Amino acid sequence: MNIILFGPPGAGKGTQAEKLVADKGMVQLSTGDMLRAAIAAGTELGLKAKEIIDRGDLVSDDIMVGMIQERMASDEAQSGVILDGFPRTVAQAEALDKMMTDMGIDLAHVVEIKVDEAALFARIEKRAAETGGERSDDNADVLAKRLKVYHENTAPVLPYYEAQGKLKTVNGMDSIDEVSQQINEILAS
Ligand code: AP5
Ligand code: MG
Repeated sequence: MNIILFGPPGAGKGTQAEKLVADKGMVQLSTGDMLRAAIAAGTELGLKAKEIIDRGDLVSDDIMVGMIQERMASDEAQSGVILDGFPRTVAQAEALDKMMTDMGIDLAHVVEIKVDEAALFARIEKRAAETGGERSDDNADVLAKRLKVYHENTAPVLPYYEAQGKLKTVNGMDSIDEVSQQINEILAS
């Protein structure tokens, strides 16, 4: 089964993806993690991506679509994936649709994790404290920019999937376990 976990920065996409990996043996494809790995490896892409991520902007659709295409074709992806942080623009969603059609696979659900904006600032602040500021974009200024970019570029992906009848919403203000339960119910439906 292929699913998308969708939501603003700090909504809990990574947290819920990790639970699905642990509980159901699904495969997580996090574009944010892939970019951070490229940064850590000091690749050319990593150098370019670091500047963009530190500003809270989006890396180009071409790069992101290429990155996901490569991973979707890998052996580990054949039993189904959790897309975390992709697609983030309507162009990425369209490219994903085409990619999946070409591969002869289906997208089962798009799960939107809905969270109040004030809570996102608190969560990012908490994560920054817990990880010793490991993520350079974990601060209020960059989060404000990421949220602006989310509203302008990423939220328009929601009506795209709503029109396909694939959009499901969970209450991301609930506890991590409660959100996980809501996601499990959607996956079982
Ligand atoms: P990315 O890494 O995807 O970051 P993001 O979308 O900003 O989201 P986060 O990872 O910050 O949050 P999350 O939803 O995973 O929440 P988490 O589970 O960690 O992207 C980073 C950057 O890379 C982007 O800004 C962009 O530049 C670039 N990029 C990535 N993909 C791209 C793409 N497709 N196109 C273009 N550019 C791209 O949870 C957050 C915190 O809250 C944790 O501490 C957690 O413990 C806590 N928490 C989680 N759930 C709950 C809960 N229910 N209750 C209380 N606390 C909770
Ligand atoms: Mg994440």
